[in-house]
Amino acid sequence: MKALILVGGFGTRLRPLTLSKPKPLVEFANKPMILHQIEALKAVGVTEVILAINYQPQVMRSFLEEFEMKLGIKITCSQESEPLGTAGPLALARDRLLESNEPFFVLNSDITCEYPLKEMIEFHKAHGREASILVTKVDEPSKYGVVVLDEETGRVRNFVEKPATFVGNKINAGIYLLNTSVLNTIQPKPTSLEREIFPSIATERGLFAMILVGFWMDIGQPKDYLQGLRFYLDHLRRKSPLELSVGPNIVGNVLIDKTAKIGEGCMIGPDVAVGPDCVIESGVRLSFCTLMKGVRVKGSAHVSGSIVGWHSTVGQSALVSNMAVLGEDVHVSDTMFLNGVVVLPHKEIKSHFVKPEIIM
Ligand code: GDD
Ligand code: MG
Repeated sequence: MKALILVGGFGTRLRPLTLSKPKPLVEFANKPMILHQIEALKAVGVTEVILAINYQPQVMRSFLEEFEMKLGIKITCSQESEPLGTAGPLALARDRLLESNEPFFVLNSDITCEYPLKEMIEFHKAHGREASILVTKVDEPSKYGVVVLDEETGRVRNFVEKPATFVGNKINAGIYLLNTSVLNTIQPKPTSLEREIFPSIATERGLFAMILVGFWMDIGQPKDYLQGLRFYLDHLRRKSPLELSVGPNIVGNVLIDKTAKIGEGCMIGPDVAVGPDCVIESGVRLSFCTLMKGVRVKGSAHVSGSIVGWHSTVGQSALVSNMAVLGEDVHVSDTMFLNGVVVLPHKEIKSHFVKPEIIM
């Protein structure tokens, strides 16, 4: 079985992290976002993953080489010369997807969930039509693709991308299982699955939706990224608690890479991910945050509700809070107060910032 992951788009909503690497390679819970998906696909017997990319191909390629070996799965790139939207990339990879006549998975690269892919294969077989999509309920459906379905059969009556008025609260979770016949309806030019292809398959009564059980989040922007981390760690607590850290200084669900060093008298958690080679000095307080690889947090500093980019430093007794996002290689001086700021890479911060702003 094959899968195609949509990894294009510039990830602007996750800047400044995406100024350093493509969104799918930004770590979520200490692992590149896309790796969570590739592992889930491999677990249900997918043998080849095609990454549909439209920029930074060289960065993606070196990632592929590393993980093809580690995971024992074929990972190839299909590169667009112009952004082809969410459907055009399927047409571009048509020959590869048609090598077998089996249905194939398509995934958005910026979502996290429990990946019920096995159940989805069964669901697809059971209804026997062209296309299956996974749906979930959200409170704020307007920023997603909304799906109106027949509750009994799961048949989709209507698919409306980013509706201006309320049509329902079940939304497209960004995971599809499609028959190869869908490829006959798509041209290799900029086309949207959500605005063009799905509404038309729905009209032909060929689109079925399976309701997702468990958590789901689009982690393509900082606030949702941290909320997604909270859900994901809670899921680990239930499914594989041994992966979580334990100790007298740990509160709630915390994931700490084994190469990170933690000083005396820290208080870490809940909902924290500490990446490889991080150094957390004594008396530090971390809650609801992610520290990427190589971050140093100096003594008695406090990071809360924020993301700290690769190889950055938070100075002694500094406070970084309220959805602050520090890019790669940002250095915050001792005792600084940073409230909700977004800091672009390679900056030194030597003054307080009391209200949210972008620091270039
Ligand atoms: N290869 C390629 N080329 N990929 C693309 C392109 C492109 O031109 N444009 C977007 N993508 C990829 C993105 O990287 C992402 O993985 C996926 O397609 C969806 O694009 P987003 O930009 O993240 O869309 P969205 O979050 O506004 O909405 C989509 O996701 C929601 C769920 O998170 C839609 O599929 C909605 O219907 C859905 O509810
Ligand atoms: Mg998205």
